[in-house]
Amino acid sequence: MIGTNKTVMNRLLKFQIPKHANWLYTIGFSLAFVFILQIVSGISMAIHYKPSTRLAFLSIHRTDRLFRYGWLVRSLHVCGSSALHLLLYLHIFKGIYYKAYSGSKKTLWLTGSIIHLIMILIGFSGSVLSWSQISYWVTVIVTNFIDSIPIIGKFLRSILLGGHTVCDSTLRRSFVCHCILPFICLIFIIIHLLLVHIKGQTSPVANRLPISRSFEDVYPNFVVKDIIVCIVIMFVIYVLCLICPNIILNKLGYIPVDYYTTPTDVESEWYFLPYYSVLKTFGLKITGIISIIAILSSVAVIPYIYNTKLSNTLTGMYRLHTITTFISLILLGLMGKCKYTKFISKLSKACVLWYLGFVFLPLIIKSFCYLISLILIPKC
Ligand code: HEM
Ligand code: HEM
Repeated sequence: MIGTNKTVMNRLLKFQIPKHANWLYTIGFSLAFVFILQIVSGISMAIHYKPSTRLAFLSIHRTDRLFRYGWLVRSLHVCGSSALHLLLYLHIFKGIYYKAYSGSKKTLWLTGSIIHLIMILIGFSGSVLSWSQISYWVTVIVTNFIDSIPIIGKFLRSILLGGHTVCDSTLRRSFVCHCILPFICLIFIIIHLLLVHIKGQTSPVANRLPISRSFEDVYPNFVVKDIIVCIVIMFVIYVLCLICPNIILNKLGYIPVDYYTTPTDVESEWYFLPYYSVLKTFGLKITGIISIIAILSSVAVIPYIYNTKLSNTLTGMYRLHTITTFISLILLGLMGKCKYTKFISKLSKACVLWYLGFVFLPLIIKSFCYLISLILIPKC
């Protein structure tokens, strides 16, 4: 047993990492760390939480006040969720920027895309649980949106709600999902990490041979980098929780549900703001629904679109296009916070188009070229 442990440890420490790996390569490890933190704080809160419309709000605020450090555990869970999403977006950005999905890494990317989708479901089901003004009205808006999805919308909504409106069954279903999904996600994370070890890592200078071929052991240099980043992230989360525990929580999160008064400033968590902005711009119309589904599924299809031969111009502009696409996503998020005006509506439509252009433009160009070749090259 000790022998096997030693061999595994040796193999882990001798994992080869590109010599030019920068700080962005430490995000994967920090993600795993914050994820475990979420599971631990989540389980501690679930012990006292009561998934019923009458008691949910009270049980959370009772835990906040009556249990020693209850407020800290809750703040850690809320700030941890924000940190997790921030790191996740950075990790995806790094993967796209360095084309870490290329070659034989499609399965690795696919596991990442599944994790990304599950994480959105975990975040959304979690936000229902506080059963406050914000959580109730965001749930009403999102489930109305699901209702307008063609064909399956009504069925999907009734499954989520467990009735015709947001009610007690909705809360219980969200609680069950919120507790089970992190463990399903954990299975995918383990598969993801195994695949990283099997497939190895992409060099940030992959296009500059022979530098790209230089690799080194992950231990000691990179392990130290990983630990430093984790400590910094932990420090920032703690400072936020201690100095301003309410920075991430919406003020409406402290008001119990009022089923008859819709607040004027309903706003989702910051990490869902780009989607919220799309909803505000297009409404529940088919364009809005298609845009959100396209944005959600875009991460998964990138390797299939960018893995094939593209024209030189498109390949040359790739990194610039990646950066501007992420900027357009950030702008969309910022606009989700702004008052809805004609200008904001136009700007957010432009951002959606730019974002979708990154993913689907190569596909359109390829189909176009294929059509031209079909027309111009005569059959033998
Ligand atoms: C909680 C979720 C996740 C965890 C814990 C995680 C963990 C890791 C770790 C530890 C690495 C190796 C170190 C590094 O490059 O940072 C890695 C690499 C990678 N991850 Fe993730 N990851 C997660 C989510 C995702 C998502 C959502 C995607 C993409 C959709 C993704 C795609 C990748 C890719 C492509 C690599 C290989 C990078 C390369 O070749 O350089 N991961 N991940
Ligand atoms: C990746 C893992 C997780 C994420 C991203 C996450 C995220 C969230 C979010 C965003 C909230 C809403 C907080 C609020 O607005 O008040 C929440 C609440 C909650 N979560 Fe999690 N969670 C995770 C894992 C877990 C686990 C594993 C459990 C329990 C088994 C759990 C139990 C709870 C409970 C009981 C609440 C309600 C308390 C409250 O609203 O403050 N969570 N979670």
